[in-house]
Amino acid sequence: MIRAAITGIGAYIPEAILTNEDLSKIVDTSDEWIMTRVGIKERHVLAKEKGTSDMGAEAVKLVLEKTNTKPEDVEVIIFATTTPDYIFPSTAAMTAEKCGIKNALGFDIQAACSGFIYALEVGSNFIKSGKYKKVIVAAGDKMTSITNYKDRTTCPLFGDAAGAVMLEPTEEEVGVMDSILHIDGAFTAHLHMYGGGSIHPASHETVDKDMHYVYQEGQVVFKHAVSKMADVSVEIMERNHLNNETVDWLVPHQANIRIIEAVGNRMGLSPDKVMVNIQKYGNTSAGTIPVCLYEWESQLKKGDNLILTAFGGGFTWGAVYLKWAY
Ligand code: UT7
Repeated sequence: MIRAAITGIGAYIPEAILTNEDLSKIVDTSDEWIMTRVGIKERHVLAKEKGTSDMGAEAVKLVLEKTNTKPEDVEVIIFATTTPDYIFPSTAAMTAEKCGIKNALGFDIQAACSGFIYALEVGSNFIKSGKYKKVIVAAGDKMTSITNYKDRTTCPLFGDAAGAVMLEPTEEEVGVMDSILHIDGAFTAHLHMYGGGSIHPASHETVDKDMHYVYQEGQVVFKHAVSKMADVSVEIMERNHLNNETVDWLVPHQANIRIIEAVGNRMGLSPDKVMVNIQKYGNTSAGTIPVCLYEWESQLKKGDNLILTAFGGGFTWGAVYLKWAY
């Protein structure tokens, strides 16, 4: 049986930092409120003139270097993002161009904060088909480009980052072992950005009405995020006969420390098995999970059981069971 193994990982986090103190000078908020309610201390901000593909390209270049892969040998490049450089061409195309990837097919995936686990599922099936042997899955967002810095209920939450992995075939018992993914469009009113699409193309009116920014009803999203991420993580554990001892790592989407802790508790995991870096980066949407994997890479061992779980706009959510391959 062929499985898709992650054989290398890279990430890019922009240098510039926006702290809670900085934010408290722009909107009526405080470090105390943000730390208690969300768990974010600071977030990184990409330069105004740069786009998501600039971060993606840095992450992909690192993956190519670490896996000793020539750009021309990449066969597929998938980019999960909600903040593409442009409506079209795709951010995958822009990233491929910046990395010298010339012989691949490529496209974007839009699954909001669940983007990386969606793209991992798609990339993994390209490998399983037997036709493709080098698949890049990149994911990330320039969330600051769609954040309203007049809205204190959303502006502390988001930051910019991207990550990327190489997927290659393996016949060993490692790689993407299982996945459960969902979409439910019934909650659009609670989490969306309506401006700039085909129903509300950019106009003076869409700008005046702040329609080019993330709109979120935090409490509704919070409630669904906790229950759906916890349910799907427990489901994937049970159907793969895993328990709180045999799961080595939980890699949760980083939207709120309270959501992360609630999911870890439902799975019965001790806190030292739960990857948390939200305090440094905030919610980088599709970027959170690959950035965690990148930062924890040196602690991961071949055969470790990882559960990746995310929840985001759509709503989209799910979990992936991954056995670390190196
Ligand atoms: O990644 C995609 C999925 N997104 C998520 O998973 C996010 C899910 N939601 C959340 O993480 C939380 O709902 C938030 C962090 C967004 C908000 O936290 P909350 O505990 O749900 O706060 P709240 O919206 O219930 O607001 C509590 C109070 C309100 O004041 P009153 O009405 O109680 O007087 C808000 O006006 O906190 C106030 N508030 C703030 N105060 C200081 C809201 N934002 C701020 C702020 N600073 N930045």
